[in-house]
Amino acid sequence: MKKITHATALSVLTCFALNALPAHAKGIDVFASECAECHSVKEGKNKKGPSLFAVLGRKAGGIADFKYSDPMKDSGIVWNREKLQAYITSPKRVVPGGKMKYDGLDNAAEMNELLDYLGALK
Ligand code: HEC
Repeated sequence: MKKITHATALSVLTCFALNALPAHAKGIDVFASECAECHSVKEGKNKKGPSLFAVLGRKAGGIADFKYSDPMKDSGIVWNREKLQAYITSPKRVVPGGKMKYDGLDNAAEMNELLDYLGALK
């Protein structure tokens, strides 16, 4: 009996701890599975895609030593939360002819967590 109580208490605690995680901490997992293949969040580290360090507030195509597509360089976008969400939902619609080969994220909860995470990179 005592054992059961213990286990129950433990699972309640674990549950609480998981729910208490800030959304941007969960965003790390979304980033790892959706974006990390091509993007690093380290400053100055480009992979197939440019570094996403401090991406919020940055001009699109703004990393000097990354070779962007012309449509991205000429897009005139400044990455705010709305633009990021639109682009991550459908890269080809926001930057037609751009070279990010990603189909888009359509899970709203994951999107929010990811945007919180990206916004915290500075
Ligand atoms: C298959 C590789 C790949 C994947 C996966 C990918 N990207 Fe990209 N990303 C790129 C490339 C390449 C570019 C440059 C696009 C261009 O120049 O048109 C880019 C550009 C971007 C930019 C514009 C950055 C800037 O400096 O203007 C953002 C923001 C971005 N990606 C976010 C994401 C996020 C968030 C994810 C995950 C949901 C993701 N990308 C997944 C390859 C990828």
